[in-house]
Amino acid sequence: MTAVGGYPDVRMRRTRSSKWMRRLVAEHRLSLDDLIWPLFVVEGTNKRAPVASMPGVERLSIDNVVAAAEQALELGIPAVALFPNTDAKLRSDDGRESYNPENLVCRATRAIKEAGLDVGIILDVALDPYTSHGHDGLVRDGDIANDETIEVLVRQSLVQAEAGADVLAPSDMMDGRIGAIRAALESNGHAGTLIMAYAAKYASAFYGPFRDAVGSTVQLASQNTIRDKRSYQMDPANTDESLREVALDLAEGADMVMVKPGMPYLDIVRRVSETFGVPTFAYQVSGEYAMLKAAADAGWLDADAVMMESLLAFKRAGARGILTYFAPRAAALLKSMG
Ligand code: PBG
Repeated sequence: MTAVGGYPDVRMRRTRSSKWMRRLVAEHRLSLDDLIWPLFVVEGTNKRAPVASMPGVERLSIDNVVAAAEQALELGIPAVALFPNTDAKLRSDDGRESYNPENLVCRATRAIKEAGLDVGIILDVALDPYTSHGHDGLVRDGDIANDETIEVLVRQSLVQAEAGADVLAPSDMMDGRIGAIRAALESNGHAGTLIMAYAAKYASAFYGPFRDAVGSTVQLASQNTIRDKRSYQMDPANTDESLREVALDLAEGADMVMVKPGMPYLDIVRRVSETFGVPTFAYQVSGEYAMLKAAADAGWLDADAVMMESLLAFKRAGARGILTYFAPRAAALLKSMG
């Protein structure tokens, strides 16, 4: 790119001088098509339980998840991502509830499909909402057992695909899980099920409120010799490594990849999207939502303005779409702006 000429012949402010001109020269735009809405599911009927660390976000019983999916459809949000808050008594060391075809997310998925709602359903593949220790995999001798975990993840994937999930999103960061899940889907009649790999997922402190929402914090903190996820999630110090992770997941059969967290990792979104040219998604995670929301609720930031600016930043960095708890509010705003 070459800059031609200089001041005063060139005045950059001319293309910023009016709203219509700014619209014409805008390089990136946030649209309804970019939004994925994460929802938390709980047992019960007609239940809405607030998540303390995420003001405005609630855990919903399945009937209300269906209502939210209807709302997504009305607003024009293409897809929802479901996360369960599993009853404590159903959590176990081996996380077996993850492959119970009657677990919360499977039932919620079927309920949305039975309601005939044409909205994409994305389900997380990982064991943390189901294990008594809160880890994404099985704990053996003070470590997370990679290959044994994959066997459980495959079973989980198959019940989720069976329930009607459109997209499986493995978020566990075990090595080789995408290939194993892809092969199992292929040989069990689910060749059409999409995989959105949490390919570059960092061991981040920004997931705190999410763990509160699915109820895995207590477990991680109290019952464990391994209190963090650094032996499987990526080191925030690394960037080249994210390219290897993404390359592997693509080679193993992922259709799309994700970078997570979002805003502190926009450099990774940029590198991944530029390097591979595959649909690259970003997750504006719970802690990012909590920060913006808390500051806005305190009156320190303009809620809608920072929300829209943060979402646009993902587009500028090269994200094809964004998982965000702001999805319904952003969609309503985008609709009202026409
Ligand atoms: C589970 C999972 C996590 C998130 C999505 N899937 C938490 C974790 O890895 O501990 C975080 C989402 C958020 O913070 O909004 N593997």
